[in-house]
Amino acid sequence: MRAALDGVAVVTGGAQGVGEGIATRLAQDGAHVVIADLNVTAASAAAARLAAEGWRADAVRLDIADPDSVAALGPAIRAVTDSPVNYFVANAGVQTFQRATELPVDEWDLVMTVNARGTMLSLQEAARLMPDGAAIVAIASIQGRVGAPFYPHYGASKAAILSLVKSFALALAPRRVRVNSVAPGIVATALWDQADLRLSALTGRAPGAARAERIASVPLGRAGSPEDVAAAVAFLLSDDASYITGECIHVCGGDVML
Ligand SMILES: NC(=O)c1ccc[n+]([C@@H]2O[C@H](COP(=O)([O-])OP(=O)(O)OC[C@H]3O[C@@H](n4cnc5c(N)ncnc54)[C@H](O)[C@@H]3O)[C@@H](O)[C@H]2O)c1
Repeated sequence: MRAALDGVAVVTGGAQGVGEGIATRLAQDGAHVVIADLNVTAASAAAARLAAEGWRADAVRLDIADPDSVAALGPAIRAVTDSPVNYFVANAGVQTFQRATELPVDEWDLVMTVNARGTMLSLQEAARLMPDGAAIVAIASIQGRVGAPFYPHYGASKAAILSLVKSFALALAPRRVRVNSVAPGIVATALWDQADLRLSALTGRAPGAARAERIASVPLGRAGSPEDVAAAVAFLLSDDASYITGECIHVCGGDVML
């Protein structure tokens, strides 16, 4: 039987892909989901789909990289529900692809600003909005654990998230707010459609080659799904994980083992 969640679950970047999978799972587990995304049109469509299935869901606009937008999140949530924000998933992120030796500084700035600074701002705001005993999960990546010749900035930004989660876990432990991360491997989403085209081109191969090579390297022999990631997030947010904080679960089919 699935764990029962109670109260509001905020999912940043929940309009599509991994975030939409997480939002769907948390709604099914009983939470009132607030999808907070830069693309408010897609977020509203995702919330409408969940509502049509009988779940509680709303959408708000959020740019995690913009401190003013992050500060407006609380009032935006209060406009749709008075329930406590018991769960927060810092999932929004971006990725670009470029050789490490040729990475333009503006690509470094973009990815670090959204993924590292944006996640830090999200965790700070979550801490302000959430009651004692709440639970937070940030979406990192196994790329934060390993080197990557074609996305050094993305890997660095995800390593920052893995570190931030431990610092926030310690900072919020006195309030019994748990902070953990989930590090996916390859997940079949729009992000990987882009990744395949760019990586295949960068390595002079036909579209599809980079994705096929990546999946072939996964011990369990397949790409992950948003539902695979969502299951780990739901566990970490649930009372079943009440003695787990500052940890990371790798959802990657055995690609990285620590
Ligand atoms: N797809 C993968 O293989 C994979 C693997 C490991 C980790 N991840 C991580 O999972 C998360 C989701 O990835 P995805 O594959 O679903 O990506 P995606 O590009 O399909 O979706 C990302 C979502 O985040 C939103 N977003 C982007 N910038 C934002 C901002 N500044 N503020 C608020 N929302 C913003 C987008 O509008 C979009 O809805 C990311 O953090 C990504 O790094 C993905």
